Amino acid sequence: MKLRPAAAAEIDRLARIWYDGWQDAYAKILPVELARVRTLESFRDRLQAALADVRVAEIAGEPVGFCIVTGDEFYQLFVSTGARGTGIAAALVADAEVRLARSGVATAWLACAIGNERAARFYEKCGWHRAGTATSLLDTPGGIFHLDVWRYEKNL
Ligand SMILES: CC(C)(COP(=O)(O)OP(=O)(O)OC[C@H]1O[C@@H](n2cnc3c(N)ncnc32)[C@H](O)[C@@H]1OP(=O)(O)O)[C@@H](O)C(=O)NCCC(=O)NCCS
Repeated sequence: MKLRPAAAAEIDRLARIWYDGWQDAYAKILPVELARVRTLESFRDRLQAALADVRVAEIAGEPVGFCIVTGDEFYQLFVSTGARGTGIAAALVADAEVRLARSGVATAWLACAIGNERAARFYEKCGWHRAGTATSLLDTPGGIFHLDVWRYEKNL
């Protein structure tokens, strides 16, 4: 397994991992209005915009997961179904924590949708603690969507 920056040529592959992971984790627990706008194309656009901040995990030359860090936020983490439970997600988090710490962040945070129990369990295993609930303001084509989330933090 190798961790590296994302390449523009693989945006479609990464968008598919994001879309499939979103469907697995969120389609059942988030409002249908949000599911409607979280299309494959929307994830492609967001990856394109965030490309410089995307780190990819690859196995045998194939991307199997990615994360995005922005400022002091661990912003996105998606691993393909076949690569879950293998330690790849933990490797992406550990790598991101090192990069956050190097950029001077003392306490990093992330938002996890309320009810995403697998992700919550995973973050707690990685040493993150639930600091409380907060409201995320999500950008959508129809305007800002207010979503209550669990806020996690970790002192780096
Ligand atoms: C979240 C994610 C990155 C975690 O990576 P992973 O490889 O699946 O994580 P792990 O398997 O190491 O850890 C998950 C833990 O949750 C447990 N778990 C699985 N399903 C669960 C559930 N429904 N409820 C509670 N815990 C659950 C697992 O048993 C494991 O705990 P254990 O190691 O103590 O047995 C990955 O599942 C994923 O990409 N999910 C879809 C996208 C997503 O939710 N991203 C996070 C956005 S905040």
